Amino acid sequence: MHYYIITGASRGLGKALAETILHQPGTSVIGVSRHAAIEHERYIHQPLDLSDIAAVENNLHKVFPLLADATSITLINNAAVVGEIGYVGEQANEHYNFVFDVNVIAPAMLMNTFLSAYSGLSVPRTILNISSGAAQRPVDGWAAYCASKAALEALTTTAQKEQNIRGTGVRIRSLSPGVIDTAMQEHIRAADPGSFSEADRFSDYHSQGKLASPDEVATRIVQWLQGNRSQDEPVVLRLADL
Ligand SMILES: NC(=O)c1ccc[n+]([C@@H]2O[C@H](COP(=O)([O-])OP(=O)(O)OC[C@H]3O[C@@H](n4cnc5c(N)ncnc54)[C@H](OP(=O)(O)O)[C@@H]3O)[C@@H](O)[C@H]2O)c1
Repeated sequence: MHYYIITGASRGLGKALAETILHQPGTSVIGVSRHAAIEHERYIHQPLDLSDIAAVENNLHKVFPLLADATSITLINNAAVVGEIGYVGEQANEHYNFVFDVNVIAPAMLMNTFLSAYSGLSVPRTILNISSGAAQRPVDGWAAYCASKAALEALTTTAQKEQNIRGTGVRIRSLSPGVIDTAMQEHIRAADPGSFSEADRFSDYHSQGKLASPDEVATRIVQWLQGNRSQDEPVVLRLADL
């Protein structure tokens, strides 16, 4: 069985990834999010609030069960939040905790536990961290989100370097998926333009039909994940690189 553990599988890109994978026989998906939205005989839902770090710690053993019949195991850290859009200096301090807990601390704990729980296995193991172009460019109003995605990319490149040194064969990648028609984009379009100078640009993406559908992005990602691995593939990727 090819196992996929996907955070944020209840909507948007994560749900499309889970459904694309479940269309293939011989796959099983463990979805981690607060809500359940998929019913399928090979889908297991693990309810979890990734902003509640104590709950994450207490439920790690359920997210990463013993997978004795695994032929491959893939963790996709997909769940993320932009949080309240506003400038640094004009935010509640809790905002930074919330965004970093969901976007960095929980994914780091999941990566750490995945690598440890499945270290004894010789089957292909992959971690895919969903990033954003915002990791590499400042977007005003999104400071916590930009910083959190930059941190996730640094976790990715460092952990891959470590796995290379250990010679484990584990593949760890960061992928920016481009702009996708999801609830996250609705949240962005609802922002006050006074705290977000790119408001018109993101509204135009929507009105001019420039947002990709979650299904088309998921299909491309799954094809790439399951395709042949090039030896000199970069660790930090954009959808166009796949
Ligand atoms: N959409 C874009 O244009 C775009 C662009 C670049 C990068 N990305 C990245 O793509 C990924 C997917 O984004 P999306 O647009 O699909 O987002 P979305 O539509 O807002 O969906 C987010 C998912 O994350 C889960 N989630 C949010 N908060 C959570 C929490 N506290 N605990 C557990 N799960 C939580 C949600 O599930 P529950 O609500 O059920 O918990 C949901 O399934 C993210 O990493 C995002 O940064 C998106």
